[in-house]
Amino acid sequence: MPINASKYIWKNGQLIDWEKATVHVLSHALHYGSSVFEGIRVYATPDGPAGFRLDDHIDRLFDSARIHRIPMPFDRATLLAACREAVLANGLESAYLRPIVFRGYGGLGLVPGPDVETDVVVAAVAWGKYLGEEAMERGVDVAVTSWNRPAPNTIPTLAKAGGNYISGTLISSEAKRHGYGEGIALSADGLVSEGAGENLFVIRKGVLLTPPVASSILSGITRDSVVRMAHDVGLEVREQAMPREMLYLADEMFFTGTAAEITPIRSVDGISVRCGGRGPITAALQERFFGLFDHSTPDSHGWLDHFRSQPAEQTQTQSFEEMPHVANAV
Ligand SMILES: Cc1ncc(COP(=O)(O)O)c(C=O)c1O
Repeated sequence: MPINASKYIWKNGQLIDWEKATVHVLSHALHYGSSVFEGIRVYATPDGPAGFRLDDHIDRLFDSARIHRIPMPFDRATLLAACREAVLANGLESAYLRPIVFRGYGGLGLVPGPDVETDVVVAAVAWGKYLGEEAMERGVDVAVTSWNRPAPNTIPTLAKAGGNYISGTLISSEAKRHGYGEGIALSADGLVSEGAGENLFVIRKGVLLTPPVASSILSGITRDSVVRMAHDVGLEVREQAMPREMLYLADEMFFTGTAAEITPIRSVDGISVRCGGRGPITAALQERFFGLFDHSTPDSHGWLDHFRSQPAEQTQTQSFEEMPHVANAV
């Protein structure tokens, strides 16, 4: 998917021109994958652009940095404000936000010394549907790939770290090479884990089933939103370990993710879901989810952050130098 260039990027406390947002080729993260990042959607609403679960995404960014012991040079309030600023300065009504914290220039060793800086960037770009417009209605055909997700004692999947995505790229590209829309990976013990960049739900006899965090998944914020929305409408949800063949017995199935939103799955390994495409529960959850953004679904969980109605003091950024007390505050 090509990048829609914006005008400005927020970097280390200030907005800079898009073209000037560059890194040195010997940056630590480029060699060793030592970055943590988020993907956040900003939706156009009747009250202007609104970030979806922005606080939860920034919390997860800090959690990821904590797992990898990456010192955070800015506090949460500054990063929240940076997200708003990146959207508003670029005049975007809807956007994909990409905050990234990465080990920069300063050393070639695996273990970063004190001279390796931590850089923080927030980009905001215009973005469409990740798995295609059509997939939202008709569903996507997926395959279980030959690549497993990392075992829990190898690479921590609860951290959304750059290095993890070398696995997601293998999973997704293998599936696409074989003509599928996306790949699903099993965990190291052979149980269903998740899509390359999406969590997975199976619906069977009216119950929503999704693999637990111990199945090498990223603990998705959209996944959590679906669990809560399902509870709101009285649906039963079970987090449970699943063997691969459960995918072949699904009445309905869908992916969740910031990029994928709620995307129905039409078939797995050439076996159609029992309802043949997007099922009624999936459609109802999509309607409830997307209704949040035209306000036809009440925002009863307080998930929307309306960027134009934020108090002025929250939209000011502070530089690291202005806040030395927050250095290493992970
Ligand atoms: C590997 C992986 N799993 C699941 C997800 C879904 O997470 P979220 O809903 O928080 O975007 C993502 C997307 O960030 C992901 O990269």
